[in-house]
Amino acid sequence: EYIEWDPETATKGGYEHYMYKEINEQPGALRRTTQGRLNTHTGGVELDEFPPGMFSDVEQVHLIAMGTSHHAGMYAASLLNARGIPAYAFMSGEYSVVNPPVTENTLVVAVSQSGETADTLDAVRRARASGARTLAMTNVVGSSITRECDDEMLLRAGPEIGVAATKTFSSQVTALALLSERIAEDIKGTRSPDARTLMEALARLPGDVQEILDTSMAREIAIEYQDSDAYFFIGRGPAHPVALEGALKFKEISYEHAEGFAASELKHGPLALVTPVTPVFAIFTGHEDEATLSNMKEVQARGAPVIAVTNERSSEVVEFADHVLTIPETHPEVAGILANVQLQLVAYHAAKLLERPIDKPRNLAKCVTVE
Ligand code: G6P
Repeated sequence: EYIEWDPETATKGGYEHYMYKEINEQPGALRRTTQGRLNTHTGGVELDEFPPGMFSDVEQVHLIAMGTSHHAGMYAASLLNARGIPAYAFMSGEYSVVNPPVTENTLVVAVSQSGETADTLDAVRRARASGARTLAMTNVVGSSITRECDDEMLLRAGPEIGVAATKTFSSQVTALALLSERIAEDIKGTRSPDARTLMEALARLPGDVQEILDTSMAREIAIEYQDSDAYFFIGRGPAHPVALEGALKFKEISYEHAEGFAASELKHGPLALVTPVTPVFAIFTGHEDEATLSNMKEVQARGAPVIAVTNERSSEVVEFADHVLTIPETHPEVAGILANVQLQLVAYHAAKLLERPIDKPRNLAKCVTVE
């Protein structure tokens, strides 16, 4: 079910950086993440780990994680809320401080690539002590988090060496989309009305990511804007965590100032930062695009160039944007994964132009095992 590996056997395979290798490995990683777990004919999710009805008494879901994994958790909260399931994403480091009420009908999903992040392990222990059910979503077989949690779901993304998480984010969101649909089905007794379209989109995802890898204009964008003062990223709904992730990747490896915002947040402060030398990346998923389009025009009115990440069917977005990073047309709940791949590539090329040590950014660690 999984591939045994250790860092010694993992090599760069001809790529200059592990990060770029891992970005390019995403189609294979996503194929493994979804392998045997979805049925495009019925729209069903097939998770051998979890017997049918296992989640039927879940009343709310808490997603706890740090860093990139937290952005995947936010994405999942948005998918669960869209299915009528109360869901909240917390940074694990805040979880015990905020101390949200949990009961035995609270499902705590701990998302951790490494399965060793101290804050996340601590949050899991506290949640269990309060009686919550715990589920580990991790990439590492036998990691500490799998021993702390009642259940586990593996990403199967393969080893990730680059400090900046890339393929594991795509796999996390994909696995969480499957889990969210499955939790909702257990609770409601029915599938989402568009479950089949969603499963088809997830099955097409590896090919769609490959298309982006083959055609991306991210390098050209990175070159065009390499002398900017700051880089902003906006999105709404599930595209909000993608904006945060786009900015996180950018700051982690380029050391340039980058911030992600909910598109609705712009008027409440961030607009004061927007100038002709702060490019704005606007993420369009095919859901609520009108509102993001008007946010895009607001920043353009302040002189900022906008790079829209969108599919080409959004003709108005394409018409008004200064540049477009194209993503294949897909289900709106999957579009964010594709948009994120474009943003990974922009961050990578920007950092490469600046000759940063991409796989080992200063002051950062792949895994933070201290609180
Ligand atoms: C560190 C890494 C990030 C990662 C985060 C959470 O900050 O540099 O890339 O997203 O830890 O790690 P985890 O293994 O728990 O997903």
